[in-house]
Amino acid sequence: MKTMENLSTIRKEAVEKIKACKDNGALNQLRILYLGKKGPIQEVMKTMKDLSKEERPAFGAKINEIKQELSALIEDRRTLLAEKEMAEQMEQEKLDITLSGFVPNVGNLHPLTIVQQELEDLFVGLGYSVAEGPEVECDLYNFERANIPKDHPARDMQDTFFINVEELLRTHTTAVQMRQLEKYHEEGKELIKVICPGKVYRRDDDDATHSHQFMQCEGLVIGKDIQLSDLKGTLDFMAKKMFGESRVIRFRPSYFQFTEPSVEVDVSCHICGGKGCSVCKGTGWIEILGAGMVHPNVLEMAGYDPNVVSGFAFGVGIERVAMLKYGIDDIRNFYTNDLRFLKMFNRFE
Ligand code: DAH
Repeated sequence: MKTMENLSTIRKEAVEKIKACKDNGALNQLRILYLGKKGPIQEVMKTMKDLSKEERPAFGAKINEIKQELSALIEDRRTLLAEKEMAEQMEQEKLDITLSGFVPNVGNLHPLTIVQQELEDLFVGLGYSVAEGPEVECDLYNFERANIPKDHPARDMQDTFFINVEELLRTHTTAVQMRQLEKYHEEGKELIKVICPGKVYRRDDDDATHSHQFMQCEGLVIGKDIQLSDLKGTLDFMAKKMFGESRVIRFRPSYFQFTEPSVEVDVSCHICGGKGCSVCKGTGWIEILGAGMVHPNVLEMAGYDPNVVSGFAFGVGIERVAMLKYGIDDIRNFYTNDLRFLKMFNRFE
């Protein structure tokens, strides 16, 4: 039975090859070779005709048995290879969640923006709205309506950059106050509660406490029977929110053309608590803003009758608040874009 011997050699060889097969492509080749139309098994089958009638059935059965065995082996191998491949892939693509990632470079708000937003938040909480106005302003709103006529010496203290005779870079947010007064009057309203934050400009020498451009936040309240005590209560609340609950304020008489009476407002020193230190220059008080009752002339120029309505106004320097709050000794830090300075205000680091 030479053919039978041949068959078992072919089978043995095939089984070895299948078991040693390392990839799907080669496995396919083996399937074609042993189970396809041309191959060693087919070759042996051709010799069947040389066998006797009695031998043929056993030979045929043997061939079928081998084919089935090889087919099953190939399928098992295919499954094994697929599992191996999957396992390798999983190993390669494994996510190591213990690896530290890249920390994104998150920016942060500028300290002046932080203070501006804090002021806005606290006044919006009191029912105020927030208004803006143009930085290139008319002489009319910046000076005339603020009760500072063309020849008034008070203009000297607020010299500014003129675009032409009638237009200038606004010197204070009081200009927005004047626009708001006019707007509310035109709308027939007798109750105003508004703050106006923004940039202002002056011809000034730039030094540690002065800049030709800085920020202010104006406040304006108009209504019936608004009194100086309302102003004091409002500013006391603001001082406590901005500098701490134990702060108190005091009014000192002052003079502004657009208020009567006018006051300068000091807050008790948040560093020494009022005992006297270098920040408050030994006085226990720090000046933070100017304020007063809106001058009757200002009300009249906007169209209001000062016998019917009254109100208060104030103007606070945003840089001044930020410098006091954060202990910054040079105003130029706000404008030089030094990241070492700006990053100190990142609340997330
Ligand atoms: N406009 C003033 C300034 O720039 C600040 C100011 C003082 C504003 C009194 C006011 C106020 O509204 O009532 O120095």
